[in-house]
Amino acid sequence: MLKGKKILLGITGSIAAYKSATLTRLLIKAGAEVQVIMTPAAAAFITPLTLSTLSRNPVLTETVSADTWNNHVLLGRQADVMLIAPLSCNTLAKMSHGICDNLLMAVYLSAICPVLVAPAMDEDMWKHPVTRQNLDLLKSFGNTVIPVTTGELASGLFGPGRMAEPEELVQFLEDFFRKQHSLAGKKILITAGPTYEAIDPVRFIGNHSSGKMGVSLAREAHSRGASVTLVLGPVQTSYDLSGIEVLHVRSAGEMLNATVSRFSHCDIAIMSAAVADYTPVLTATEKIKKNDGNLVIELKKTTDILKTLGQSKKNGQILVGFALETQNEKAYALKKMEEKNADMMVLNSLRDAGAGFGHNTNKITIFKSNGTETDFELKDKDLVAADILDAVSGLLP
Ligand code: CTP
Repeated sequence: MLKGKKILLGITGSIAAYKSATLTRLLIKAGAEVQVIMTPAAAAFITPLTLSTLSRNPVLTETVSADTWNNHVLLGRQADVMLIAPLSCNTLAKMSHGICDNLLMAVYLSAICPVLVAPAMDEDMWKHPVTRQNLDLLKSFGNTVIPVTTGELASGLFGPGRMAEPEELVQFLEDFFRKQHSLAGKKILITAGPTYEAIDPVRFIGNHSSGKMGVSLAREAHSRGASVTLVLGPVQTSYDLSGIEVLHVRSAGEMLNATVSRFSHCDIAIMSAAVADYTPVLTATEKIKKNDGNLVIELKKTTDILKTLGQSKKNGQILVGFALETQNEKAYALKKMEEKNADMMVLNSLRDAGAGFGHNTNKITIFKSNGTETDFELKDKDLVAADILDAVSGLLP
């Protein structure tokens, strides 16, 4: 899988840089072409000579070396992937804020290839709110963060923050390239976010959905080569959705129309939106004024989008629904799958800590209409999206 792949390996100033020698050796052995770019701080942890020998390529550190300008634009354009391993806290901060003070940063900012990072830092730095925020920013740019592992750290403490081992990084890259074109030629329709049902011009009935799960699904499907349409409700976060067709909607009715109009052309539809089940019978045209008594708003049922698609589903189309439950989770998920004629149901229980609305993580169980059931660990929503699309790929003819 890695044979002939052009890999830019960025190395930053972290003790885990000593593992870069093994990583480089493994990548070369797998047939990849490796161009190492080090930050000046990385050279304190491992010598450029070691890496140039192992990568069979001069190591680049400075934008200008001797009388040669290292063309960062070309480096970033020619690569199949850029892997920054280890990623220090400092380079993470620079990447998330576009600070361009060394060659590695110039290449990162010029790179049009996918960028993967393998962070390495001590537990307290890893848990610091600014690190969490910077990692979220990187993800919002479409970069992939390879999970850290928990173990003994350079400080002697035990906790999360260890860089994944070189063998794991190679495996991650292999999986990455294997999946890169796995959905090529497929059209995927995804709904995400909440819906707002207007009561009057200034008030609405809504919910807490952040849209993160659907956005992660859309990005992951796009990175696997699919042509993706995202029908997105009124989310509060601005997501980088480059390469994805986005249809912005507000109410359940608008989401229904946008989704139904695209369904017949798609191969896979994933309904991850938290659609309002009820909407006001009447929307006041003027702001409703307060008076002494109670206010009663009559609500009518919205049309179930997933069910509507299930009724018109053609042979070969794959329909995936979500079920967010607080009790009798499995029974309700299976009931919804049957009633809505879905091929797969993704269950998340609000009883699981870290799962569901507003979290960056999710814990799911996947049910398929062929009777299989698979439980997954609590993980980052980007990784959950990968699990869901792996499961969907398993249903493709
Ligand atoms: N869904 C939909 N249109 C609706 C309501 C729900 O497409 N009007 C979809 C959701 O996107 C999700 C699935 O149906 O994929 C299940 O949604 P959920 O809210 O868990 O279930 P409901 O069917 O609405 O039932 P309940 O709220 O009673 O659990």
